[in-house]
Amino acid sequence: MTEAYRSLEWIAPHTLRLLDQRALPFEERWLALTDYHVVAARIADLAVRGAPAIGAAAAYGLALAALHAPDGDLAALRRTLAEAAQTLKAARPTAVNLAWAVERVLSAEAVIGANDGAALQAAALAEAQAIAAEDAAANRRTGQHALALWPAGVGDSPANPLTFIHHCNTGALATVEYGTALGLIRAAHESGRHVFVYVDETRPRLQGARLTAGELKRLGIPFAVIVDGASGYVMRTRTVHACVVGADRIAANGDTANKIGTYNLALAAGAHGVPFYVAAPTSTIDLALADGPQIPIEERAAEEITHLAGAPLAAPGAAAFNPAFDVTPAGWIRAIVTEAGIAWPPYTQSLAEAVGRASHE
Ligand code: MRU
Repeated sequence: MTEAYRSLEWIAPHTLRLLDQRALPFEERWLALTDYHVVAARIADLAVRGAPAIGAAAAYGLALAALHAPDGDLAALRRTLAEAAQTLKAARPTAVNLAWAVERVLSAEAVIGANDGAALQAAALAEAQAIAAEDAAANRRTGQHALALWPAGVGDSPANPLTFIHHCNTGALATVEYGTALGLIRAAHESGRHVFVYVDETRPRLQGARLTAGELKRLGIPFAVIVDGASGYVMRTRTVHACVVGADRIAANGDTANKIGTYNLALAAGAHGVPFYVAAPTSTIDLALADGPQIPIEERAAEEITHLAGAPLAAPGAAAFNPAFDVTPAGWIRAIVTEAGIAWPPYTQSLAEAVGRASHE
């Protein structure tokens, strides 16, 4: 079997390698980046995407800003870092992991306390490395916690698979390694259950059809791609045990922003009595926002809808409205699985507790 994907890696001398997700699954093209402006541009154009992956990429972007600036003048280096932080944070608005990772590097004790340029450079890189390593470990723990959610007696044979609907891409590509919602599926598969996944194709950028399908194939997990509008039909006519999705930002009350179409899936799941689960690291929880309407929603170019790879799809001149995310109100979410355990409603309490536990781990 081909190895699981990895979204990014740090290589000597002072270079961030990104797997260019725009070209997947047809071409495996690695980008070698040394300029933080280019990191911000590749986040904005979805070469790297998925909330935890863009957080890690932005943290490495800050390290690049520090390492590729002269180290002789500490004050000038700190100014460069502050500028880079603004540029990187502005790349995409919805995933809070981006701002979280940038702030974490800036406020790291060793970054604040550095007495010279070389110490500041080393500290910024060390914090970025820690963010990347922790993300990979957190995803594996999240997958293990979720094993308690799956019904007994299903998944014991290929004829009786534990069956999921999954939206967007939340796998190794969307994180540093392993994945969040796809990590739950992967952990169930690795625990020995037979698993089957209906993969929402995820218009307009097809993260499901291109990326999730590619990851499941590599993992040897059986699946079928469906158009986004098919999930209601699938739940009505076939057995589905759970819908699982990731998150770009979870407000304090559990309202969850994720890829456009997630809300529709949650409504359809609710109508069919299918449990709807969100999986995310605690770095995706934004306790500073009380509820979903406060989450900034990115709107992307109309051409993402009206064209596919440059070829027109819609009537010439058709206008399009292209919100990249939606917000699922907490009431539609059965539970939120994090590396610090499963948060159940009422989320205002359980999410704050999960964040508290994670900060002590
Ligand atoms: O626009 P994208 O591809 O970055 O959107 C990604 C998603 O919506 C994911 O579901 C989310 O970031 C969680 S990824 C673990």
